[in-house]
Amino acid sequence: MGRLIISGGKPLEGEIYVQGAKNAVLPILAATILTDEKCVIKNCPALRDVDKTILVLRDLGCGVEWDGSTVTVDGNGISDCRICENLMRQMRSSIIFLGAILTRCHRAVVSMPGGCPIGLRPIDLHLKALRKMGVTITEEHGYMNCSADTLHGADIHLDFPSVGATENIMLSAVCAEGDTVISNAAREPEIADLAALLNKMGARVAGAGGSVIRIRGVKKLHGAEHTVMPDRIVAATYLAAAAVTGGEITLFGAEKSHMDAMLNALSEMGAQFELGEKTIRIKPLREIRSIHILRTMPYPGFPTDIQSPFMTVAALARGTSVFVENIFENRFRHVGELTRMGADIRVSGRCAVIRGVKELYGARVYARELRGGAALVIAGLAARGETIVENTEYIDRGYESIEKYLAECGADIRRED
Ligand code: UD1
Repeated sequence: MGRLIISGGKPLEGEIYVQGAKNAVLPILAATILTDEKCVIKNCPALRDVDKTILVLRDLGCGVEWDGSTVTVDGNGISDCRICENLMRQMRSSIIFLGAILTRCHRAVVSMPGGCPIGLRPIDLHLKALRKMGVTITEEHGYMNCSADTLHGADIHLDFPSVGATENIMLSAVCAEGDTVISNAAREPEIADLAALLNKMGARVAGAGGSVIRIRGVKKLHGAEHTVMPDRIVAATYLAAAAVTGGEITLFGAEKSHMDAMLNALSEMGAQFELGEKTIRIKPLREIRSIHILRTMPYPGFPTDIQSPFMTVAALARGTSVFVENIFENRFRHVGELTRMGADIRVSGRCAVIRGVKELYGARVYARELRGGAALVIAGLAARGETIVENTEYIDRGYESIEKYLAECGADIRRED
């Protein structure tokens, strides 16, 4: 278990290149098994979750080379259709392989994903859709056995626009017999990025990024090359870090059109930006204003993933903010730790009331999940004195060398393993 040791109070100043998006690279790597030809995926971030995804690919029998930020997957040798329980437990999002394995092998065996620190994360929508496409699913001894001699297209209405379910359906539908229409599909930009790769592989996916996605099944997919989109959540995390330290940073490679809800929220809190073609510069913030009410919603609403880092900003605002978490039932696990640093936050059910304080002070705190961990790092950057954030492996799931990027912008931060 590693820790980050931060001496707070230094305004961030400098430039940060935004890494490739975790939530895009995971389904994209899963999609590479849809063909027996090589796929070259560029701009892959160096993350624990990418390490784990590569372990899954190798376990299935794929050849994988990782050179810098380029991952080449050769799915020719796939020999297994099972994801072992150990890997499934380490990375719940391995469920995204289900659709891809079914397309490639017509059979898949995966362990039941179970809960995770931010909530139950059921997969009922995934399974309902797959059944509609002709998949037989039986559950025994904690494993799901899925098989389909023939996957066929279907009209699928999602009761909730689940990101994972939308991706799993896409991965199952690309080579299914006939057409699939997903209505109330998730509209996250990562879905459009996955569709872009699939279409380069020869798939026929239209409408991804909107709420109706149409997929015409094709016989076979071929190899392709793709560059992963920038990570909008990581970009917003660094903006939040600049905001709480009164710093001025420029993000390179950020896609601002993906970030409207987050930039609007920061603007409401007093931040000012200079937006370039592929750059976002946040100007020094003298005083943070509270935000009236912030509700997490499916895209294009405010992302649940950035709720906790922005709560750190609200914790230092003048006035009271209300955050409502509508996506995951247990995504306030950072609150107790922020309180240990002097924040004034009360939680009731899905609502958090944050009364801004003048300053936070350093403390030893524990990351309990990825984004909550990032919220604590941001708090540490702003706090008086030394903060020790324990359990860095959560943060490393989604942030590439977070201490390196922050130190390059003047933060006093180091890692101890
Ligand atoms: C993805 C992202 C995660 C992000 C989330 C919401 C990846 C790897 N992870 O997770 O970072 O926080 O989207 O933007 O891309 N639900 C069901 N039944 C299902 C599926 C989902 O009830 O079958 C519920 C979930 O419990 C949750 C909500 O739908 O309350 C959203 O989940 P979903 O969009 O599926 O999130 P993930 O794909 O797991």
